[in-house]
Amino acid sequence: MIYYDIEKKENEIWLLQREYNPWFHLKTESAFAQSNGYFGVRAAGGLPSLTGKRGMFVAGLFNCAYEEEVTELVNCPDVTQFRLILDGEEISPDGSKVKQYERKFNIHTGELVISIVFELQSGGEIKVVERRFASMDNRHLFAQCITVSVLTGKGVSGKLITGINGQQTNSGVSHFQKVDCRVYDREIMHTKGYLKEDSLSILEANACDAKTPVFTLKRRGVDAAYAVMVPEGENWTFEKYVYIHKWEDTTKLDEQKAILKDCIHKTYDRVLSVHKEKMLRLWQQAAIRIDGATLEEEASIAFAQYHLLGMMPWNSSSSSIAAKGLTGEGYKGHVFWDTEIFMLPFFQYHFPEAARQLLEFRYRGLEGAKEKAADYGYAGAMYPWEAAASGKEETPLYAALNIHTGKANKVWSGIKEHHVTADIVYAIWQYYSMTGDNTFMDKYGYEMIFQSADFWVSRAEWDEKKQAYVILDIIGPDEYTEHIDNNAYSNYMARYCVALAAMLAGKVKVENPNLYSRLNAEEKRKSWEEFAEKIYLPVPNEEQIIPQDDTFLTKKCLQDIEKYKKAETKQAVLQDYSRDEVVDMQVLKQADTVMLLNLFPQMFSPEVVRKNVLFYESRTIHDSSLSYCAHAQACASVGAMDLAWEFFEKCMVIDLDENPNDTTDGIHAASLGGIWTCVVFGFAGVNYEGEVLHISPRMPAHWKTMNFHIKVKGQNIQLTLSNTEVRLENTGINKEDIIKVEIGGEVYRLKDSLQVIIAERKEGRRA
Ligand code: BGC
Repeated sequence: MIYYDIEKKENEIWLLQREYNPWFHLKTESAFAQSNGYFGVRAAGGLPSLTGKRGMFVAGLFNCAYEEEVTELVNCPDVTQFRLILDGEEISPDGSKVKQYERKFNIHTGELVISIVFELQSGGEIKVVERRFASMDNRHLFAQCITVSVLTGKGVSGKLITGINGQQTNSGVSHFQKVDCRVYDREIMHTKGYLKEDSLSILEANACDAKTPVFTLKRRGVDAAYAVMVPEGENWTFEKYVYIHKWEDTTKLDEQKAILKDCIHKTYDRVLSVHKEKMLRLWQQAAIRIDGATLEEEASIAFAQYHLLGMMPWNSSSSSIAAKGLTGEGYKGHVFWDTEIFMLPFFQYHFPEAARQLLEFRYRGLEGAKEKAADYGYAGAMYPWEAAASGKEETPLYAALNIHTGKANKVWSGIKEHHVTADIVYAIWQYYSMTGDNTFMDKYGYEMIFQSADFWVSRAEWDEKKQAYVILDIIGPDEYTEHIDNNAYSNYMARYCVALAAMLAGKVKVENPNLYSRLNAEEKRKSWEEFAEKIYLPVPNEEQIIPQDDTFLTKKCLQDIEKYKKAETKQAVLQDYSRDEVVDMQVLKQADTVMLLNLFPQMFSPEVVRKNVLFYESRTIHDSSLSYCAHAQACASVGAMDLAWEFFEKCMVIDLDENPNDTTDGIHAASLGGIWTCVVFGFAGVNYEGEVLHISPRMPAHWKTMNFHIKVKGQNIQLTLSNTEVRLENTGINKEDIIKVEIGGEVYRLKDSLQVIIAERKEGRRA
C-alpha cells in the first residue's frame, strides 16, 4: 500500500501527505526530494522542525573529514529553512497550532508544495505555502517561493529570516574546514565552503516587497531578515533563487549573479515553466504508458523514473549515481554495482549518451582499479566495491558496532566482493551492442574490458581435481554468504568478461592494430582464451538447481525464515544469529543466482529458471532492496505471473509504503531502476542481445497495452505491446539501418514500422 494520497491532474501525478506526521518526516524528505542530477535537496519543510533532516547533496562532492572515516557525499549548507515571526509568534508546525497540513510532490515536474494553515495565538488564521524545485534548465539553480495569506482575522506583521546555513553536518560530522560568507550589492548572499580538495559556492538572491533586509553574518552562514506585512484577507510573497557551484565549474561570479537577477525579474512561475519544458522533453523519451494500470501503479512507475532522471549527473562523467541518488546520506553517497546493473539499463534504452557518461566515469577510475588489483597481488583492474569520486576503494573496513561488545564488525565486501569488475564489463558491452559507439570503445571500452579480464585471470587458480580454474574465497551478490568458493554468479560473470575480451581481441587486432598493441592484447589473449574455456561453472544438479557456491547446498536451512521475511526492520536475522551462523545457513539476503538468470535470459531452459527462482526465493529474506525487483523480473520472464506480480507490488512501493523506518536516509536507487527493468525486461519482455531486439510480452492480466520509446543504434523506436500483439514504429529521422526484431521465434526486419500478432502463447520464456 502506498502511504501517500495520489492525484492526477492534466497528466501530472501528485503524491500527497495530508497529515502532519513527524514519524514520516525522514521518509517523505527522501521520497519527495528535488534533484536534477547536479544537486538534490531533501524535502524537509522550510519552517523550523524538531524532527527530520535537512540535506543538500551535490553530485561528486565528497570529503573525508577524519583519518578513520571514509569519504562521503557532503551534506551541504542548507538554503531551505526560513523563520517566520508574525505578531510576536514564531510560526512552526511543532510549536504553533496546525489547522491543516499538506505536503505534496509532483512526480512529473519535481515541484514540492507544502501548505500549512495555522491558528495564531492572536486568534486569526494564516496559510503558509512553500513551493520549490531544482531546475533542469539550469542545473545550478534552486528556487523557492513562499506565500503568507491571512485567511481570517486582522492583518499580520513581523519578519521572515532566511539565508545560507553552513552549519549542516553529515550526522554530526562537519566537512567544511572553513566557510567564507559575504553579501554583494546589499542583495545577494554568498558562502564559499572549503573541503580538503574541493570547494562549494552558494549564491542566494531573494525578492519580496521589503526593500532593505537586515543581513547578519553568522558562524558559517549568512542570513537576511525581511519585514513582512500582510493586510487582512491578502497575500505576501517571497521568492528565493540559489546558484550552486563547485570549484571546477566555469561560470563567472558576475554571470551567476546575473542569472539570479534574471530569475527575480521573471518571477517564480516563469522560471518554473522553463524547467517544466525541460522535464517534459525528458518525459517524452522516458514515459511508459500502460493502459489498464491503476493510478497507484502508474504513480509508482513514474516515481521511479522521476528519481532516475534526477539522479543522473547529466553532461558530466566526473561523478556517477550513488545508492541513494542525491536524496540522503545513506551509504555515504557511494557508487555500487547498483549503477551498472540496476540503473544504467534505464539510461541505456532511453538516453544512451547518459549511459556512456556513467561508463566514462568508470574509465576515470581505471587507474584506481589497477592500484587496488596490485595492492591485493592481482593483475589488471579490480574495481572498488564502493566508489566515490575516484576509482579508489571506499568501502569502510568496519561498520555497525555490535551493541553488546562495542566492537565493530569487519566489512568484507570491499575486500572480497569482486563481481562489480564483471558487472561493469557487462554494462559496457550492453551499451556498445545497442549503440555501436566505436569511438567509446576505442577510447575507453576495450581497455576497461581487457584490464578487467586480466584481473579475473589472475584472481582464479587451477584446481587439479576439477581440472578447471576456480575462484575461491569470494562474496557473491548475496552478502549473507561470505568466504565461499565458486559463487555461480561471480564465476559466470568472470567467464563472460574474459570470453568477451578474448573475442574482442580478434576484432581489435583487425580494426585497430595500434590499440591492440598499446593494450598488449597479443600477449594476454591466450590466457583469456584458456580461462574462458576452463573456468569452472556450476551447472544445474539432478534437481536442476544451480549451486550458489561449492557448499551452499550442504548447509542447513533457516527454520523460521518467514519471521524475518515479514519483519519491519531489515536485517533482523542478524539480531538473533551471529554473522558466522548466518553464513553457515541456506539463507540469502538478496537475489544471487537469480540475478544471473536475469542477466542471461537465454542461458538456461525455462524449467531450470523456474526451479531456481522458486528454490532460492524460499531461502531469501529480501533484506536488500535489490531483491524484490530481481525476483519479479525473473518470475515474469518464465511466465510465473502471480509470483512476479507479488514481488513487483512490493518493489513498486519500496520508497512509498507505510513503513516510516525505511527510505529515511535516501531513496533506494537500484530498486527504482529495478522497477524499470521489471516493466521493460520482465513484463514487456524486451531485451537487446546479439544484434537482435527480442520482444516477448508477458504483461499482468489487467494491463491491456504498454507504450514506450527506446533507442537502438541511434534510432528511436516506439513500442506498443499487448500480450497478443506487438507494434513497432521507427519515429527517428535516421532509418538507414534495418533493426532485427525477434518475436515469437520469428526474426523480422524493422525499417519504418512492424506489426506482429502473437497467435499462441506457448509456456516458456521465449516462444
Ligand atoms: C546490498 C548490495 C548493494 C548495496 C547498495 C547492500 O545492502 O547487499 O548488493 O549494492 O546495498 O545498495
